[in-house]
Amino acid sequence: MGIYVLGIAGASGAPYARRVLEQMLLANHDVKVVITDSGRKVLDVEENLLLTGNTDADTPLVLEWANGNGATGTLQLYHHQDVAAPIASGSFGIDGMAVVPCSGGTMGRIAHGISNGLLERAADVCLKERRRLVLVPREMPLSLIHLRNMTAVTEAGAIVLPASPGFYHNPKSINDLIDMVAGRILASLGIDSPVMKPWLGADPHSYSEEGLH
Ligand SMILES: Cc1cc2nc3c(=O)[nH]c(=O)nc-3n(C[C@H](O)[C@H](O)[C@H](O)COP(=O)(O)O)c2cc1C
Repeated sequence: MGIYVLGIAGASGAPYARRVLEQMLLANHDVKVVITDSGRKVLDVEENLLLTGNTDADTPLVLEWANGNGATGTLQLYHHQDVAAPIASGSFGIDGMAVVPCSGGTMGRIAHGISNGLLERAADVCLKERRRLVLVPREMPLSLIHLRNMTAVTEAGAIVLPASPGFYHNPKSINDLIDMVAGRILASLGIDSPVMKPWLGADPHSYSEEGLH
């Protein structure tokens, strides 16, 4: 199947990364994962996943964390300073990359071509090779610098997909909110998944003058 890069930076939103990784593996894709130091910190805080930075030791932990029951895809974890990894070169073909979540710092480095780590370099490669790159920031409020950096990456060809779930699917749980964002990320990469629930229009019986119920 396809080859995808999943970058995990140090913004809040590790559960989105878990769901995206799980669905990529369930869909039988080959996933190359890069996690920044701050990304590891947030994984610890939000998901209780403590990684050492040693890819040999961390790979099974990340697989267990993603927990795609019955997954047939493969996962390869690269150290974020391993700039000699295959995904650091445009000659290594991939089908797309997502940075989930994408910190303001990582967004800024990608926007300015500052590729001093593998995650930013892999994103830089996607832009120069005109490959699909989906960046998922989570910040509020946004400064003018954040907005300008998002404009710059969009002009360079990336898709900025903010982690801002809607409520029109009437979510019943936090998992429903996670899935709304994860589904859109996967769809933006061209990956079919059951997590993506298209809007089929409001039920006319649930609509009144007062609005949606
Ligand atoms: C628990 C925690 C939550 C954070 N949440 C965010 C966030 O939502 N958005 C953001 O841009 N940065 C957030 N940060 C700050 C980034 O981790 C920090 O700016 C870091 O330098 C980014 O590094 P990276 O871009 O190499 O991952 C958070 C940090 C921690 C420890």
